[in-house]
Amino acid sequence: MNLPIRPRRNRRTAAIRSLVRENTLSPADFILPMFLHEDAENTPISSMPGVTRWSLDGLVKEAGEAHALGVPAVVLFPKIEENLKTPLAEECANDEGLVPRAIRALKAAHPTLCVITDVALDPYNSDGHDGVVRRDERGELQILNDETVEILCQQALCHARAGADIVSPSDMMDGRVAALRSALDAAGFEKVAILSYSAKYASAFYGPFRGALDSAPKEGDKKTYQMDPGNAREAIREALLDEAEGADMVMVKPAGPYLDIITRVRESTTLPVAAYQVSGEYLMIESAAAAGWVNGQAIALESLMGIKRAGADMILTYYAKRAAEWLK
Ligand code: PBG
Repeated sequence: MNLPIRPRRNRRTAAIRSLVRENTLSPADFILPMFLHEDAENTPISSMPGVTRWSLDGLVKEAGEAHALGVPAVVLFPKIEENLKTPLAEECANDEGLVPRAIRALKAAHPTLCVITDVALDPYNSDGHDGVVRRDERGELQILNDETVEILCQQALCHARAGADIVSPSDMMDGRVAALRSALDAAGFEKVAILSYSAKYASAFYGPFRGALDSAPKEGDKKTYQMDPGNAREAIREALLDEAEGADMVMVKPAGPYLDIITRVRESTTLPVAAYQVSGEYLMIESAAAAGWVNGQAIALESLMGIKRAGADMILTYYAKRAAEWLK
C-alpha cells in the first residue's frame, strides 16, 4: 500500500508508546476513602469485600502504608454508634467524637498526609438522611436546607479544629459552600480548603457504602437533594455555583457511569476536578474478578485511566492503595 501516514508507527515499541502517551496514572492522583469505627478491632465489611472498617490504630497504620506508597490523601467515613444518632445529628460537631480523634491521630502520626473529611449528616442522623428531616402537614418527608447548612458549618468547624486539611461537603444542600467558607474564615481557618461534591447524583451505585455505614435513609430516598441521573447541564450549574461560592475543588460522583459529566465539568471550570469511583463501581469489578471472569487488576487500572482521561485531576477510589502498589 502507498500509505505515508501510518498511526501504528507511534505504537511500535513500548518506548515510543510511553513517549506519546497522553495520560498517565500515578499514586499521586489517588485519595483513599477509609471507614472507621469506635471498635478496637479491624472488621472486614461484608457489603464491600476487600474493604475494612478500621479501629483508630488500624486507620493510622493503613493510612501510613498508603501514604508511603505515594497516596497523598485519605477521606474519612465514620460508622457512628446507633445510640449517638439523633434527629439533629449533634454528634457530628463533638470535638471528642470519632472523626476529630481520628484526624488528630492521623496528623500526629503522618504530618504530610492530607486529611479530608466528609461533611454531611447521614452517619449521625437517626433518619439516615444527609440533612435534617421534617414531616410537613401532608405527612411528607422534607429535608430542610437552611437548618442543615447551619449544622454542617458546626461539623466543618469541628473538623477544622481537629486539624483537617480539606472539608468535603457531600450533602448537596444549596448554599453550603458559601456558608462553610464564611464560617471557616470567621473562625480563622482560612487555610482549610473545600472540596465540594458539586455534581453528586442520586445513584444506586452507593448501595454497598450505605451497607458499610448502616447509613441508608430510614424512609424515602435522596432524590430531592442529589441530582437526577438524566441531567448533564445541571452538573455545570452546580459546579459553577460552587466555584462562585468559594470551593477550591469540585467533584463528580459516581465516576465511571458519569465520564461525560467529568469532561463537561472539566471544560467549564478552572478548578481542579475530582471524581469518586464509588462502592458499586468497585464491587462490580471485584465481583467479576472474584468469579474469574475478568482480570481485576487490569480492569481496575483501565477504569481509573478512563476517569483520568475524561478529565479528573484526582480520583477517590477504594483501589488507591492497591493501585499504588500495582503502579510501582
Ligand atoms: C453520604 C455519602 C455517600 C457516599 C459518600 N458520602 C452515600 C450517599 O450519599 O448515600 C457514597 C460513597 C460510595 O458509594 O462509595 N454523604
